[in-house]
Amino acid sequence: MSRPVGSAGDGATGLATAAEIAAAADLLRRGGVVAFPTETVYGLGADAANPAAVAKIFDLKGRPADHPLIVHLADAAQLPAWAIDLPAAAYTLAAAFWPGPLTLILRRAPQVPDCVTGGQTTVGLRVPAHPVAQALLRAFAGGIAAPSANKFGRVSPTTADHVRREFPAPHAPDAILDGGSCQVGVESTILDLTAATPTLLRPGGVTREQLQACLGHPVPLRGQAGNDHTIGGVPEPTPDREAVRAPGLLESHYAPLAEVHLATPATLAAQVAVLQQENVRFVVLARRDDVQAAEACGGAGVPCNTLYRTLPDDDAEYARRLYQYLRDADRDGFDAILIVPPAPTGLGLAIRDRLQRAASR
Ligand code: TXA
Ligand code: MG
Repeated sequence: MSRPVGSAGDGATGLATAAEIAAAADLLRRGGVVAFPTETVYGLGADAANPAAVAKIFDLKGRPADHPLIVHLADAAQLPAWAIDLPAAAYTLAAAFWPGPLTLILRRAPQVPDCVTGGQTTVGLRVPAHPVAQALLRAFAGGIAAPSANKFGRVSPTTADHVRREFPAPHAPDAILDGGSCQVGVESTILDLTAATPTLLRPGGVTREQLQACLGHPVPLRGQAGNDHTIGGVPEPTPDREAVRAPGLLESHYAPLAEVHLATPATLAAQVAVLQQENVRFVVLARRDDVQAAEACGGAGVPCNTLYRTLPDDDAEYARRLYQYLRDADRDGFDAILIVPPAPTGLGLAIRDRLQRAASR
């Protein structure tokens, strides 16, 4: 019997074995679709050089064909096979953050299939750190095109079980590799290196502060100028509505079935009162002090339509659990989620971004 690969940190039970990974690489070579863990979220992978295989991903996900996919590579040495006109920053960033949760948008090499790039002149490349993803990429010895392993517009999976539930037979991937719970919990950071200045298209597991420290200059966040979102009445930056360049930036992405309402610590108690009057069954997700303050305002006990859950103080832990919280609310049949996003620094920027999109419906 082959031993589980890597050390996802949560025990060996259920982790993909070397034999399962070898079989999955074989499936990829034969044009199959394999769901696999990365450190961010699970991906739905196919041979990036095989358009018929990539088409199956779009079918399974129900994803529009003009949405490009990220190509996953085993290491930075494979960059020149997929991209041309590589700027020095690509190598600097790869050395600093790969393997890890950073996707670089670069000029595509001519042989990259159109179905992977959505017909654009650029390609997204990333080297994931998860040991199972690494083992799969090395066994396959090619690029694996993979979006997050969820139906289009829905919450990304952070466990193999989420993937199984999202794609029940007969519309399941050919294999699902188990790598435990994803350690980062939100998707990779997407950085466009084809713009005049490297531009953040999607905040993610590598923080903007880390990118700025590495590059030695400010990294603008795309769409920062447009201010038509609010959290509890406070305006928030929002991405361009029209931009389909990185459709992960579509406002309706990452949405649970329950309606998501954003709050600040200052507005939370009032928002709780409004939802309670509307007789909506909802879950309140906030940090300990904010929960206590809101509960104290509630007067005579917690009404049975309201569940309070305490968010971790640490943003890394918040990110790791975020999608599970959203899934739990759906599983438990709540109509709404009232949640306090973290401050927009460090990983908080990515968490806030996903919550804003989940709330935009
Ligand atoms: O963490 C992640 O990035 C996960 C794991 C599986 O690697 N993948 C992921 O893929 O989140 P997906 O497809 O769910 O989101 C990738 C985003 C999409 O919004 C896509 O439009 C954008 O990356 N993207 C891919 N290629 C692009 C390109 N050439 N130019 C601009 N955006 C691109
Ligand atoms: Mg996705």
